[in-house]
Amino acid sequence: MQSLANKRLLLGVTGGIAAYKSADLVRRLKEIGADVQVAMTPAATHFVGPLTFQAVSGRPVRLELLDPNAEAGMGHIELARWADLLLIAPASADFIARLAHGFANDLLSTLCLATDRPIAVAPAMNRLMWRNPATRENCRILTQRGIRLWGPAAGEQACGEVGEGRMLEPLQLRDAAIAHFTTDGSLRDLKVLITAGPTREDIDPVRFISNRSTGRMGFAVADAAACAGARVTLVSGPVSLPTPPDVERIDVASAQEMYDVVMSRATAADIFIATAAVADYRPAARTEHKIKKTQETFTLTLERNPDILATVAALDHGPFTVGFAAETRNVLEYAEDKRRRKQLDMIAANQVGVPGSGFESEQNALHVLWEGGEKVLPLADKTQLGHELIALIAERYHARRH
Ligand code: C5P
Repeated sequence: MQSLANKRLLLGVTGGIAAYKSADLVRRLKEIGADVQVAMTPAATHFVGPLTFQAVSGRPVRLELLDPNAEAGMGHIELARWADLLLIAPASADFIARLAHGFANDLLSTLCLATDRPIAVAPAMNRLMWRNPATRENCRILTQRGIRLWGPAAGEQACGEVGEGRMLEPLQLRDAAIAHFTTDGSLRDLKVLITAGPTREDIDPVRFISNRSTGRMGFAVADAAACAGARVTLVSGPVSLPTPPDVERIDVASAQEMYDVVMSRATAADIFIATAAVADYRPAARTEHKIKKTQETFTLTLERNPDILATVAALDHGPFTVGFAAETRNVLEYAEDKRRRKQLDMIAANQVGVPGSGFESEQNALHVLWEGGEKVLPLADKTQLGHELIALIAERYHARRH
């Protein structure tokens, strides 16, 4: 197990039912050496008593902005800078809104405003609150400012509904914190080019061919690469995901557009990671007007798209190339064959079509292969897996160059 020894975490707890899980999170963080100071908003105290957090953290909980006794120990400005990381878990919709707009009307929001340390937010709320355009916009503001969003996950909610908005589990948050501290610097100043998401191949002005890729894996890899100090360009097909902090994003629709953007930047890149689910074929002709249903049967002629990954891998003095292999069967065999055929430095294989992993899922498991080696990255949240994959890519990239 990795350690958080000598790391100071300020855990902000806001008002949500998931607050009860944060007591376990404190235990999990302390178990691996972290020093944890809890600060609660007044609303959070309606869900869990400060004494619980005091007992598990071993430190008195900070509750009020102008508490003379607490301020005499460590003033709030000092506390804001004491931490190596501020983690807000659970982060309510209200707190996210206040953070986005720079409020300082309680201790926790003031700490967030007064710090120059990294902030991570673990949202927890009802699925409709999460989907609401106001929350979406607030999250966009946060990520643009470099604040990290860890989660939320999808699943059953406290209100009985099912959807996206559950706080990540304590172990997933602990792993994200470990990843945050362990990958920093391994790709410092390297240029990393990443493709993500599906592509969209037009049939006529209203119809297209696409696939089930959500882009989550690629966005997690881009986020992790930026955390590791890389200068990241993310070429994304149509997805509804916020751009990770410190990542340059170029949106494209078709495989040909993705190819054109990638090829214009590939020779300057040090590492190319192809996570996109690129359509292998496109309609041979895109009609100018909507196709009418006049015929009983309809035949669509398709032609091959360029293989972006294989083209980059074949470049003279090209980047270190990493491909993905999503297969429904014979995963390893097909992946190794693909690695050799496309002359890749590395391939990450995963099984799709199984519930709980791969496309349209929060989680994934990868089996990574390279010449003379392999490593299994077991089922984990895609955020965590992105960090693990980047750590492995950094290791292999540096090993190859020495
Ligand atoms: O051959 P296959 O499509 O299974 O290979 C998958 C890998 O190749 C992925 O890394 C994907 O991003 C990449 N790819 C590509 N361009 C294509 C097809 C696949 O970059 N046209």
